[in-house]
Amino acid sequence: MTLPPPTPLPSALTPALQAELTEFVKGISALTGIDFTRYQRSALLRRLLPRLDLEATGSLTALLDKARADRACLARLQGDMTLHVTSLCRDATYFQLVRQQIGLLATYPSPRLWVAACATGEELFSYRILLHEAGLDKRCRLYATDLSATVIAKAQQGLIEPYQLADHERAYQEAGGQGNLLDYCQLQDGQLRFHPALIDGVVFSVHNLLTDGSFNEFQFISCRNVTMYFDEIGQEQAHRLLHQSLTPLGHLGLGIGESLRHSPHRADYRQLGRGEPLFQRIR
Ligand SMILES: C[S@@+](CC[C@H](N)C(=O)[O-])C[C@H]1O[C@@H](n2cnc3c(N)ncnc32)[C@H](O)[C@@H]1O
Repeated sequence: MTLPPPTPLPSALTPALQAELTEFVKGISALTGIDFTRYQRSALLRRLLPRLDLEATGSLTALLDKARADRACLARLQGDMTLHVTSLCRDATYFQLVRQQIGLLATYPSPRLWVAACATGEELFSYRILLHEAGLDKRCRLYATDLSATVIAKAQQGLIEPYQLADHERAYQEAGGQGNLLDYCQLQDGQLRFHPALIDGVVFSVHNLLTDGSFNEFQFISCRNVTMYFDEIGQEQAHRLLHQSLTPLGHLGLGIGESLRHSPHRADYRQLGRGEPLFQRIR
């Protein structure tokens, strides 16, 4: 099969393209009710340019016009701009370290764990399995949020596509899994799903890390692979919220390549392990 050539990326954001992108972001924010102004512009552009070909529009302005008239196109654009890529036990060494630390939750009478930007739920299920294997599943209350109601609905279904199973099993084992992943899955109506016990009792909600407030205090917050899409001010805002929501001595997990560089509270954390993005709030 011959794939079409990829959309060439502009070598620089010219002032004209920058102005067009600003108008586009304003327009999409107004149409979706989601404020995209604090997302990194170059990363947004990289994800949007292929869409110009796919939607047969020659410019961002024309693409915005199409989105105004076509709700399905708008939904596709929103998906491009928020990117829902995720996987079970993403980054084995990170989850091995979490496995070592998660027992600390036993020192709290009713610990709470928040998976922020949970996408379709694989990250949530990773923690739930770890908690189960640490004997803490019944004690810990889990919260899972995302900007997108569509992915939250998928997370609540816990569907596993057959082609994903081998990757899930491998990732679970590499992260130190103590059993067999199939023990956490169930066949229901001919569909493989994560076991309902991994989903039961989880509080799911739509929540925007840039515009919504703190809604509880947590002993563990996992906020992985999302702040990297925000600009510096956006990262600062999100980290202010995370700090406000994390109890002293609580843990904060970020994605590989993410950091506390733009957190106004970075001095309040210590990094655990060797370079893994897992932090403990020390004051
Ligand atoms: C790349 S996925 C990461 C999923 C998961 N945390 C992981 O590491 O595998 C990014 C997720 O962040 C969500 N997201 C993007 N902007 C957000 C925001 N402002 N507030 C909350 N979630 C957001 C997207 O909808 C998407 O599901």
